[in-house]
Amino acid sequence: MTQEKFVNKIAIYPGSFDPITNGHVDLIKRGMRIFGEIIVLVAYNPNKSYLFNVKEREQFIREIFSDNNGVKVDSHGGLLVDYLKSSGASVILRGMRAVSDFEYEFQMALMNRRQTREVETVFLMSGFKWFYSSSKLIKEVASMGGSVKGLVPDNVNRGLMEKFNNGKR
Ligand code: PNS
Repeated sequence: MTQEKFVNKIAIYPGSFDPITNGHVDLIKRGMRIFGEIIVLVAYNPNKSYLFNVKEREQFIREIFSDNNGVKVDSHGGLLVDYLKSSGASVILRGMRAVSDFEYEFQMALMNRRQTREVETVFLMSGFKWFYSSSKLIKEVASMGGSVKGLVPDNVNRGLMEKFNNGKR
């Protein structure tokens, strides 16, 4: 059993990030106080459709963390544990909002652990301000012309307005 501490380890923060929200950004910043490097991994399922394509999602994240050397951005279309093996990382970072997130997160953590014992999932509680927001709800509100300013970084807000063609709001 390895005695290495988390500090200075690389953590992979996987998600759909369709799109990245201020809740995600907050979690990454807080994660940087624990880990030496965080790879924000845009995980995609080739059979699923997304609002933003992988390159767009990666680009938003790159812009947001352009002045933070500790945050890297990558994408992957297969099993998360395979990415971990190839990257040499052993920690998955995930955020947890309400109790409703728990079951899904618990299932994923155990399924990943079943595939390789070399991995640990570390959870950070979501910031209180972001407790109720999600990419899904943000997209729904933006698609109907509602304002999501303050819930997403400015570049994402612009991207959403362009996507839904309501730039005048
Ligand atoms: O932001 P999300 O949609 O909650 O993130 C879910 C994600 C992307 C982390 C999860 O679906 C995932 O790990 N996908 C990669 C494929 C995989 O390994 N699936 C099995 C997970 S146990």
